[in-house]
Amino acid sequence: MRVRKARLQDASNIYDLVNSLSGDGTLLKRAFAEICENIRDFTIAESDAGVFLGCGALHLYGPHLCEVRSIVVKPEAKSKGAGGKILKALIAEAEENGVQSVCLFTRIPDFFFKYGFRTVEDKSELPDKIFKDCQNCPRLSRCDEVAMVRGRIPRMSILGPKQEAQELVRLSG
Ligand SMILES: CC(C)(COP(=O)(O)OP(=O)(O)OC[C@H]1O[C@@H](n2cnc3c(N)ncnc32)[C@H](O)[C@@H]1OP(=O)(O)O)[C@@H](O)C(=O)NCCC(=O)NCCS
Repeated sequence: MRVRKARLQDASNIYDLVNSLSGDGTLLKRAFAEICENIRDFTIAESDAGVFLGCGALHLYGPHLCEVRSIVVKPEAKSKGAGGKILKALIAEAEENGVQSVCLFTRIPDFFFKYGFRTVEDKSELPDKIFKDCQNCPRLSRCDEVAMVRGRIPRMSILGPKQEAQELVRLSG
């Protein structure tokens, strides 16, 4: 098995796998066009024979923060190390870009604890994530995801101020 940056030819495999888990909210639904547009965010795992096994993406908000998104392994390929390898590659990519803080929202924090992530009690500590995804999410008021960060919580945001994010989270609660 190997892990490599995705190419546009991987977009349909990524689309099918990510959206297979978007119905129950495990992953955010991604449009095919959005995957193509952001294909350079994606890393994939494939077998030695070149069979697609899974993917994950690193979204760069800016020098202060990036986010692990859409990390998923095909059911038949689980528990063989692919998810961990993808996550390590995304963390290395954040480091190559000089970004110290990596965030994510998840229902399976135990997986991410192993790779140095810790939980963030107050989601509004990550305003960029709130403005990018949460403010338009139908589950905002009943979010069952845990916010996590690896590295320090950034002091700045670029998509909106922390106070407004706090207000959104407060109103949704
Ligand atoms: C989470 C997921 C990507 C892990 O991929 P994987 O290839 O099965 O994981 P790995 O085999 O690399 O496991 C790496 C380590 O994480 C642990 N792990 C795997 N899945 C886990 C889970 N759901 N909860 C806690 N630990 C988990 C493994 O036991 C292993 O630990 P070890 O190194 O001590 O043996 C995969 O289970 C998946 O696709 N889940 C559904 C999608 C999802 O929930 N994605 C996260 C959205 S934020």
